[in-house]
Amino acid sequence: MTDLRLQSEFHPGEDFAVAMDAHDPLREFRRRFLFPKAPGDDCVYLCGHSLGLQPASAAAYVDQELKDWARLGVEGHFHAVNPWMPYHRLLTEQTAELVGAKPLEVVVMNSLTVNLHLMMVSFYRPTPKRHKVVVERGAFPSDQYAVKSQIRFHGFDPATSLIELTPLPGETCLRDEEIDSLIDRAGDEIALILLGGVNYATGQAFDLERITRAGHARGCVVGFDLAHAAGNLPLRLHDCGPDFAVWCSYKYLNGGPGCVAGCFVHERHAREWDLPRFSGWWGHDEQSRFEMGPDFRAMPGADGWQLSNPSIVSLAVLRASMNIFHETGMERLRAKSISLTGYLEFLLGQLGSENFSIVTPSETARRGAQLSIRVPKSGRTLCEQLAQKGIVGDWREPDTFRVAPVPLYNSYHDVFRFVRRFAAAVC
Ligand SMILES: Cc1ncc(COP(=O)(O)O)c(C=O)c1O
Repeated sequence: MTDLRLQSEFHPGEDFAVAMDAHDPLREFRRRFLFPKAPGDDCVYLCGHSLGLQPASAAAYVDQELKDWARLGVEGHFHAVNPWMPYHRLLTEQTAELVGAKPLEVVVMNSLTVNLHLMMVSFYRPTPKRHKVVVERGAFPSDQYAVKSQIRFHGFDPATSLIELTPLPGETCLRDEEIDSLIDRAGDEIALILLGGVNYATGQAFDLERITRAGHARGCVVGFDLAHAAGNLPLRLHDCGPDFAVWCSYKYLNGGPGCVAGCFVHERHAREWDLPRFSGWWGHDEQSRFEMGPDFRAMPGADGWQLSNPSIVSLAVLRASMNIFHETGMERLRAKSISLTGYLEFLLGQLGSENFSIVTPSETARRGAQLSIRVPKSGRTLCEQLAQKGIVGDWREPDTFRVAPVPLYNSYHDVFRFVRRFAAAVC
C-alpha cells in the first residue's frame, strides 16, 4: 500500500525542497562526499545504487597507508599506524553493526561474485533428490552465471535444477505469497534459495526474514545477495537467520570501484569444521598462520572463508565510508531515505504522464532508495541526454532508467532538479 500519509506531506514547489533540506538533520553529511561537476554546478548524482560517491576523507585514509608503505616497506604489516596484518579487523565491528550481525559472522574480503562462489562451495550441496536452486527471474547476470556454473560443476543441469521466481502475468514484482507458495510446493527438492535483498532491476526489497523462515522450514539453505541492500536498508542478518549473505561495497557503501566485498556466515556454521570449503592462508588459524604448515585449520566464523591478504588501499577507502555510516546509523539514514524516495515518487506522480511508469513497489517496506522508471519510448539516449544536463542515473535494457536518492549525500533539491529535467526530456 502506498504511504498516503507521507505523500500528503509533500508539496510540488521548489521552496518545499529547499525547506526540507534546511530541516534535514543529516544535511551536513553531503559535504563529506565529492560530487562530480556539471557545467556551473555539482551534478545531480542519483547513481549510488551503482557506484557511491567518494568520501572526502578517503584520500587521507589511503595516504596514511601509502606513507606507511613508503616509510616502512614490509614492516608496515606490523608497525604501520594501522598495522596491515589485522587491518581488515578495523572494519569488523562496523560491518557487523551495518548488517545486524555478530562480529564473528562477518568479514570483508575478495569481491562479490568470488564470495558468492565461496559460499556456494560450502552451502550448495546438491543431492539427486534435493538439487534445485531458487533465484529471482532477471537476477543480476553475475549471480545467474555463478549459480548455473555451480549447478553444472556438481553434474546437474540448470534446465532442471534452476527455478526462477517469476512475477504473475502483467506484474513486474514478485509477491511474497508467490515465494512462499513455491517454497511450499517444491521445498523438498530445493537445495538453496538465493535471492537479492533488493532486486537490481526493479528495486523491489524482499522480506528476508519471511523467506528464511519458509526456506528453513522446508530444509533448504538460504542465502542472500545484498549488493543493493547493504547501506540501503537496515538489516538484521543474525536474527533473520539466513545461512550466508554476500554484498559489494562500492554501491551504497561508497568503497570505490571494485572495493573489497562483504560476507556473512551465520553463527550456527561458525565452527562447522567439516563444511567443504575452498581455503587460503588468510582463513587459517591466525596463531599458527606463519608456521607455514601444510594443513589448513580454519578460523572460526566468517574469517575462516578468507583466501588472500586483502588490498589495504581498498580497505582504507571503505574505512573512510564506514566511519561515516557509524556516525549516522542505518535507522536515521532509512528514515530520510523513506522520505526522500517518497518525495521522488510524489514529484513523478505530479507529472501525470503516461510516457513512463514506476516499476518499483510503492510500499516503503518493499523498496529501498532506488526507483526504477520504465520509459518505453525513450531508449538509452535518455540517459545521455540527462547526463548532458548534469543528471546522473543509469540505464538498464530494455527500457528502464534507475535512480536512487541516497540519504547520506543527496538532498531534496537534487530530487527536485532531477524531476524537472526528467519531465522536460520525457513528458
Ligand atoms: C546484484 C549484483 N550481484 C552481483 C554483482 C557483481 O558484482 P562484482 O563484479 O563485484 O562481483 C553486482 C554488480 O553490480 C550486482 O549488482
